[in-house]
Amino acid sequence: MKIVVIGGSGLIGTRLVARLREQKHEVVAASPNSGVNSVTGEGLAEALKGASVVVDVSNAPSWEDSAVLKFFETSTRNLLTHEAAAGVGHHVALSVVGTERLSESGYFRAKIAQEKLIKASSIPYTIVHATQFFEFLKGLADTSSNGDEVRLPHVLFQPMAADDVASATAKAALSPPLNGIVEIGGPEQFRLDELVRRRLASLDDRRKVIADPKALYSGAKISEKTLVPGDNARLGETRFETWLKQSSAQIPTSHASPPASQRRPLDSRTGSNP
Ligand SMILES: NC(=O)c1ccc[n+]([C@@H]2O[C@H](COP(=O)([O-])OP(=O)(O)OC[C@H]3O[C@@H](n4cnc5c(N)ncnc54)[C@H](OP(=O)(O)O)[C@@H]3O)[C@@H](O)[C@H]2O)c1
Repeated sequence: MKIVVIGGSGLIGTRLVARLREQKHEVVAASPNSGVNSVTGEGLAEALKGASVVVDVSNAPSWEDSAVLKFFETSTRNLLTHEAAAGVGHHVALSVVGTERLSESGYFRAKIAQEKLIKASSIPYTIVHATQFFEFLKGLADTSSNGDEVRLPHVLFQPMAADDVASATAKAALSPPLNGIVEIGGPEQFRLDELVRRRLASLDDRRKVIADPKALYSGAKISEKTLVPGDNARLGETRFETWLKQSSAQIPTSHASPPASQRRPLDSRTGSNP
């Protein structure tokens, strides 16, 4: 089966492409660097020729409110139009658990818009709602920092490893379309502030993490269960401590940040902002 992975060079995309190739599918890892741009449309018609499934694991280069909305709306419209023309039978998109509860956030309004376009289109679809990636914990601290203080709410949190996200997304791509949402999450529940504190400690990052009920998440107020999946979620296998042991040596501990308005708080390719 021919499968096109939009965002095939990203954190999830590279892992997903590898898993699908292991199973002997013909996989196109599509991204601007490989000449396929879902925003301008460049290379899309050629990439989608003969494809049965398109998996969208792309992400916007800027998370400023209007830029990210424009990215997900334009990209999703282009993909769905080209998929209809190419006769693609299944559109799979990766989104976030609780997206519908986070409309105060510009980033999540963009994800809501993406999902709305998918649901309204004629292409059969599956939306995979994943919890936050372990790889994103440091980026989350960075965008919640003021000097040496990181303020985060003491809410439930059930993040997962990027490898497990890729496995579950591959499974969705190889299954019949649900025309609905499947939720995936990590095997353990934590408190958001506590896990970020543990992650920073593992990086020898001295910033102080403070539990603050008024702290926002990606610009939105959140409550106890905003970020956790429902009872039917499929859970990944990788526990936080196992991931930490495997990955701590590979993740850089410092970086230069862009202006706060353009930071990508969910960016996780390196555990920091781009
Ligand atoms: N971070 C989290 O905790 C979390 C949790 C749940 C769901 N998600 C979702 O997971 C998805 C993937 O996240 P990620 O961290 O894997 O992203 P990522 O590592 O930032 O990768 C983004 C990918 O998008 C590609 N891309 C950017 N602009 C493009 C364009 N115009 N056309 C085609 N491809 C383009 C990039 O290509 P280049 O390499 O060429 O730039 C790259 O391959 C996102 O949609 C996000 O909402 C994230």
